[in-house]
Amino acid sequence: MKLLVCGGAGFIGSTFVRQRLLEHGDEVTVLDKLTYAGRKENFHDFAEHQSFRFVHGAIEDAAAVASAIELGAPEALVNFAAETHVDRSIAEPDAFVKTHALGTYVLLEAARANELRCVQVSTDEVYGSIESGSFTEQSPLQPSSPYSATKAGADLLVQGYFHTYGLQASICRGSNNYGPYQYPEKLIPLMVLNALHGDALPVYGDGMQVRNWIHASDFARAIGHVLERGVSGEVYNAGGPDEEANIDVVKRIVAATGASESQIDYVRDRPGHDRRYSLSSQKVRALGWEPRVRFAEGLEQTVAWYRDNAWWWEPIRSGDYRAYYERQYGRALA
Ligand code: NAD
Ligand code: DAU
Repeated sequence: MKLLVCGGAGFIGSTFVRQRLLEHGDEVTVLDKLTYAGRKENFHDFAEHQSFRFVHGAIEDAAAVASAIELGAPEALVNFAAETHVDRSIAEPDAFVKTHALGTYVLLEAARANELRCVQVSTDEVYGSIESGSFTEQSPLQPSSPYSATKAGADLLVQGYFHTYGLQASICRGSNNYGPYQYPEKLIPLMVLNALHGDALPVYGDGMQVRNWIHASDFARAIGHVLERGVSGEVYNAGGPDEEANIDVVKRIVAATGASESQIDYVRDRPGHDRRYSLSSQKVRALGWEPRVRFAEGLEQTVAWYRDNAWWWEPIRSGDYRAYYERQYGRALA
């Protein structure tokens, strides 16, 4: 297949591109704005692949989208491009509205004009928080943060284009991803790198919020299943095999890194913090997908990857991320 992958320089997007190039023999053009979270380092092992092309540009820029389509002549578009950190959406929602609302609109117009099949990558956060049981694709959208509200808006726009114009588009909503190449503002890489450096481990509130962890390689394969076998107009949830409270995740990381539990620091809670996420994935399982990586094993591998790949995270941890960290946590990194 010839694919246009928007946001392919990020954590999950680059994982998906790697799979499609190396395991499926697809031709892939990536369009990415290279925000703080988008990095060419994520292409290090396939940048020279003959079926890989990169266009530096934003999804809200119609000219950049048109040149990526001209270069790659894709049959399908998979959209990962997004601002993805909930805390940043609380501090500065502007870019979230621009990328998720305007950017998705520009992509949908281009897909319509070029008759591209589309997969919109989305999140369990659009359903809000659930105390018990799991969200299905029929659950109402009740987003809680500027991040999840703008992601929900993008999903609704995709569905509007399907119903109004017959655009061939499906949506795949994932639960919390973890694995190599995740920017260290997110819980797991933040805690791993802080643990390795002897920094405090900032747990929000009581640490009893529950997340449904999925390895990024499993989510990327689910998106591939939806691309190849999903029905247009349909939503597919892809949740991981395990759920765990944040404090237990942090304790696992302390044990895996040889850090000390005395580094754990309970800090002010995130405003509007969702208590629990949980996805039912029966519909995507019916397409032949199932998660392969259990959390305990995947987390051990992820800790080892960060320990062994300082070349990847050192430029982040010594750059602008330090100022972000001070603003967010009110203290400097070691
Ligand atoms: P990420 O922050 O690592 O990567 C986002 C990528 O999008 C970056 O490469 C960035 O440069 C690019 N980007 C941002 N704005 C852009 C714009 N306007 N134009 C072009 N490119 C732009 O994010 P991620 O964790 O890999 O998430 C990818 C997608 O998966 C997002 O849509 C996110 O909502 C969704 N998702 C993430 C998770 C998770 O746990 N990380 C779970 C479910 C769904
Ligand atoms: O559920 C899918 C979503 O998962 C994705 O759509 C988002 O893009 C992704 O960022 C993630 O959102 P979360 O808010 O769940 O992930 P985050 O890693 O920011 O936080 C996970 C949990 O850990 C959450 O309950 C908040 C808590 N936390 C997070 C950080 C960064 C802490 O306790 N301390 C922290 O320092």
